[in-house]
Amino acid sequence: MNKNIRLAFVGVGNIAEQHMRYLRDFSDVDIVGLYDIDDKILRIRQHQFGGEIYRSINRMLEVQEPDAVFICVPPYAHGEAEVSCIERCIPFLVEKPLSNNINTAKELADKVHESEVITCAAYMNRYRRGVQKAKIFLERYPASLVSGGWLIDTPSDHPWLTQRELSGGQLVEQTTHLFDLVRYLCGEAASIHCYGSKGFVHPNDTYDVDDATTVSIQLKSGAVACIQSSWSAGFERDIYLKLFGPNISVEFKNWDLDTKIVCRDYLVPLEIPGEKDIFAIEDRAFLNAVKYNDPTRILSNYEDGFRSLQLSLAANESLETGGPIQLTDLQRYSK
Ligand SMILES: NC(=O)c1ccc[n+]([C@@H]2O[C@H](COP(=O)([O-])OP(=O)(O)OC[C@H]3O[C@@H](n4cnc5c(N)ncnc54)[C@H](O)[C@@H]3O)[C@@H](O)[C@H]2O)c1
Repeated sequence: MNKNIRLAFVGVGNIAEQHMRYLRDFSDVDIVGLYDIDDKILRIRQHQFGGEIYRSINRMLEVQEPDAVFICVPPYAHGEAEVSCIERCIPFLVEKPLSNNINTAKELADKVHESEVITCAAYMNRYRRGVQKAKIFLERYPASLVSGGWLIDTPSDHPWLTQRELSGGQLVEQTTHLFDLVRYLCGEAASIHCYGSKGFVHPNDTYDVDDATTVSIQLKSGAVACIQSSWSAGFERDIYLKLFGPNISVEFKNWDLDTKIVCRDYLVPLEIPGEKDIFAIEDRAFLNAVKYNDPTRILSNYEDGFRSLQLSLAANESLETGGPIQLTDLQRYSK
């Protein structure tokens, strides 16, 4: 592709703005179209970053003929944008989680598979240098135990976020990043069992989710993982993933996943600070995949993102049933 990449956005809220702040510095990218159901936010983003405003996705795609689309809508709003892109074979990056509904995501995964359109599921942590380095070492020295946590205060900035029906809850909305890393670094899960706690944060019109959960995962490799989540950690924010094996320990800490690897191959621990501009790194990988028609540059495509969503939704199902979910046995959880 010799010309600039023409980019359109569906959903221009918080995460879209974060992407746009990096994209405006990419000299080979033009933001040409903006679509959202909220007129006010559309005008704000147009003022900040340019692009034509549309009130129909299909109209935007017809008129602007973008080379790629960023889909940045909340979990409950997926479907229309993806189908519109797939029908026109327009590559798209879609924010995680891919949906809060397994059937919607499965239908879309099947359509993506048939169309062979280039897709990127925005699990951006896969692009971190620390994660890449750890992956190489863990292939050689596998982990027997994974322990992770996403423990933060009750979110109040997005009313949809803390409503189970709209977001899927924390397991689907946030901890999915950790589930994705467990899969990426240790392989697929065989079964999952989740317990939740309620009643510590008072429910209201926009809060009906579990306050905290703990998830046990049996991995096909034989390893086990324990992932904890909390939207009720009022004072001590903690995001981490630790992996242990006979010959290795890996620690990822904080939102940026500052990395420390201790293993047989190093006399001293290997420390890799987490990148502050991870969205720019992810966006560049996706846009280069589009520019050079080379999907191998993308570390998580739609189908891969679907499998991470399966894990989050299976954890939710376990929360409801009170029992373990065998991922291998259930049609809706298998591809
Ligand atoms: N990768 C990350 O680390 C990361 C960080 C933040 C958010 N996200 C994800 O991005 C998604 C959006 O989150 P956000 O923080 O930007 O939320 P937001 O509420 O700030 O923005 C969402 C936007 O989508 C619009 N919208 C809703 N329904 C729509 C529809 N049917 N069509 C078009 N637009 C619609 C809303 O009007 C809003 O402007 C979520 O799934 C979230 O998990 C990912």
